[in-house]
Amino acid sequence: MKGIILAGGKGTRLYPMTKAISKQLLPIYDKPLVYYPLSVLLLADIREILIISSPDAIGLYEELLGDGSQLGVQFQYAVQDQPRGLADAFILGADFIGDDSVCLVLGDNVFYGQQLTDTLKTARENNVGATVFGYPVRDPSAFGVVEFDDQRNVISIEEKPEHPKSSYAVPGVYFYDNEVIEIAKNVKPSARGEIEITAVNNEYLRRGKLRVVLMGRGMAWLDTGTPDGLLSAAEYVSTIQKRQGFYISCIEEIAWRRGFITTEEFREIGESLKMTDYGQYILELCKGERK
Ligand code: DAU
Repeated sequence: MKGIILAGGKGTRLYPMTKAISKQLLPIYDKPLVYYPLSVLLLADIREILIISSPDAIGLYEELLGDGSQLGVQFQYAVQDQPRGLADAFILGADFIGDDSVCLVLGDNVFYGQQLTDTLKTARENNVGATVFGYPVRDPSAFGVVEFDDQRNVISIEEKPEHPKSSYAVPGVYFYDNEVIEIAKNVKPSARGEIEITAVNNEYLRRGKLRVVLMGRGMAWLDTGTPDGLLSAAEYVSTIQKRQGFYISCIEEIAWRRGFITTEEFREIGESLKMTDYGQYILELCKGERK
């Protein structure tokens, strides 16, 4: 399975913060926002990853993440010249995906929770059709929203409905088989002029191949779309890290625990960052001081 991180867009809703910098490079407490969705792909054991961003920002992602060898994975990069919509990821990424299945994660989505790795593993193993998620939120109208019938069967997904038909929003992590390329190429732009991921999901539904897995309230899916959302996400990460002593979305730790890199390689990363708490954390893990 291939992975795609979509980290483009203009970030206009966060201006002036994002006027000169890509939104997904903003810090969430102690690491760039893009580390959090990247950790989702690594936890799903996905090692070939395409990072898509705008012409201005793509070089910054390459500078931050390199070719992936330091994490034992492969990163490739692609430019999206205009934010044409989320489904564009599969058109731009068609050659990269090849005959494979693919997981798309939005570069501004943060997930954390006990069931996360298992949830991703199950979605990955179900390699026919599409698997997306439903997550309960107080105000779903800013998202894709799942509509159920009386038997809890999914009957549609609506993009940013004025009157949401359930409280289940669709978060920005999606698993698809190879048909997604053909489906994305045939999506017509919506009223807001974008080729919507929701249109892709509704096409899978029409074909009888959409699974919507509900995430429990024990999972954290955090909003990074507003200044308050960014601050709350940073406070959440800081609170959990200080309480547990374990870091959220330390991509090097995940690569090490998954066996993508050796302890020696992991230690070298820690050494190069040892002037920071982040580097000290890695060195402590190497010494076995935290299990
Ligand atoms: O976060 C989950 C939601 O993401 C879903 O519930 C919605 O169904 C889905 O449409 C999407 O809604 P948003 O309105 O939040 O999408 P937004 O336009 O903010 O784009 C999400 C991220 O993808 C954002 O960081 C910018 C990036 N992006 C967006 C577009 C449209 C791109 O890189 N390229 C694009 O063309």
